[in-house]
Amino acid sequence: MAPAAGSSSSIAILLLLLGLGVLVSLAAAAMDPAERETLFRVMESVSSDRDWRSAAGADPCASPWPGLECKPSSSSSQSQGGRPTTTTMHVARLDFGVPPNPTCKPTASFPTAAFALPELRGLFLVDCFKNPDAATPFAVPPAANLSSSRLQQLSIRSNPSLSGTLPPQLASLRSLQVLTVSQNAMVRGELPPGVADLAGLVHLDLSYNSLTGPIPTRLGELRGLVGLDLSYNSFSGSIPTRLGDLTQLQKLDLSSNNLTGAVPSSLTGLKSLTFLALSNNGLRGRLPAGLSDLRDLQYLIMENNPMGAPLPPELGRIARLQELRLANSGYSGSIPDTFGNLASLTTLSLENNNLTGRIPAGLTRLKRMYHLNLSKNGLDGVVPFDGAFLKQLGRNLDLSGNPGLCVVADRAAVVPDVGVGVCSGGHAADASCASSAGGGGGRAVRRGQQVTTTTRGRFFFWRPAAMLLLTHAAVASLCSCILL
Ligand SMILES: *[C@@H]1O[C@H](CO)[C@@H](O)[C@H](O)[C@H]1NC(C)=O
Ligand SMILES: *[C@@H]1O[C@H](CO)[C@@H](O)[C@H](O)[C@H]1NC(C)=O
Ligand SMILES: *[C@@H]1O[C@H](CO)[C@@H](O)[C@H](O)[C@H]1NC(C)=O
Ligand SMILES: *[C@@H]1O[C@H](CO)[C@@H](O)[C@H](O)[C@H]1NC(C)=O
Repeated sequence: MAPAAGSSSSIAILLLLLGLGVLVSLAAAAMDPAERETLFRVMESVSSDRDWRSAAGADPCASPWPGLECKPSSSSSQSQGGRPTTTTMHVARLDFGVPPNPTCKPTASFPTAAFALPELRGLFLVDCFKNPDAATPFAVPPAANLSSSRLQQLSIRSNPSLSGTLPPQLASLRSLQVLTVSQNAMVRGELPPGVADLAGLVHLDLSYNSLTGPIPTRLGELRGLVGLDLSYNSFSGSIPTRLGDLTQLQKLDLSSNNLTGAVPSSLTGLKSLTFLALSNNGLRGRLPAGLSDLRDLQYLIMENNPMGAPLPPELGRIARLQELRLANSGYSGSIPDTFGNLASLTTLSLENNNLTGRIPAGLTRLKRMYHLNLSKNGLDGVVPFDGAFLKQLGRNLDLSGNPGLCVVADRAAVVPDVGVGVCSGGHAADASCASSAGGGGGRAVRRGQQVTTTTRGRFFFWRPAAMLLLTHAAVASLCSCILL
């Protein structure tokens, strides 16, 4: 292929020159000049690291640059005549903010130009906009410029100075699979319902912003959604019934908003759910029937809501449940005996409710239990836990603030800090049952007495105590069965 030449050395030189020529032409073809120019504009709008133009030279994709990932064109052109393939390189992913990726300069602006990169699949802006003196507008090009975008993952996280609303034209990024706009305290306003047009969305994380208004009903159209996290915003109104259509959903976190109304029964249709968090809202009323249909549910975290209803025994049928946290929610009635069937349970938090009656003896069989908080309720009777269970929990057991509870002396020795008085008297079971009712002067009860000695309350204290005494006399034999 090389033309004839006088000597072998000149042939070698010629070959070398030819080779270089091929390399240079390869390099020139490696990236479209317009795309390269767009990349430089993106770099310059965000990064302070270097002079990208002179540093990256003709071909930014030729050598590895932090924060920049290139890939060959999907339709790479083959050159004719057996020559090496010339491949067009494209920007596929840009990462800004956290070293080793380029950090952002204090005057960084939102890199709208990035959306013009034709093959961009991922854009990550993490810990980027944080200049306390300059708010950075959350600006995205017009919808028409986004419709040909191939962006699959957009992640805008931990940007305290990013401000504005969620741009409605995000709905035009039809290739999006993962949309994360999280921990940007100055991002406010409503969630544009058009986000429901992102039919390929698998994960939507809008947690820890300042979003307000209702959760759009249309989110129920995102049938491929596996994770939905809207926690730590100020969403108000009720939980849309249509969210129950998200049958692929594994994680639903709506905690720490301003949601009201009841938990819709449609949520029992979320058959893939493993994690459900609804804490810190204004939700009230009974939990919907059918929650035990959520067979894969491992975490049910729903503290601090004014539920004011009984605990459904059905919860005890969610066999995979590991954490059941329902503290501080006005639950009344007794702890269902069925909770003793939750063999996978590691954490049960029911503190600060209005629960009454005895602690189900079955809990003591739960070998994985690691954290049990039943404090600040109206539970009474003898604590039914055996020594092994008490040791298993150690300091992670809290029964304090239940004046009617007592623990038999030998068990009290196992865990001194359980927060409950020792049952007094000779026959452990009978005496402790009586003591818990106020008759025998157990420590827990004496605390109760102090509260009521001087007032009319004393009268009211002793009267129900006498009634309890009768009740407990009736169950005394049962008590001894549980204890022995
Ligand atoms: C949107 O597209 C038009 C036409 O291609 C172009 O002139 C304009 O610069 C683009 N705007 C942005 C913000 O990218
Ligand atoms: C929550 O809603 C109540 C009543 O609608 C309102 O008074 C309160 O300001 C809201 N709180 C937040 C944090 O939005
Ligand atoms: C729970 O008990 C507290 C204190 O006894 C009481 O003020 C409150 O109204 C009760 N709540 C419910 C929902 O029963
Ligand atoms: C139980 O819950 C109360 C809140 O009511 C908290 O103060 C206490 O530390 C918890 N106990 C344990 C052992 O976690």
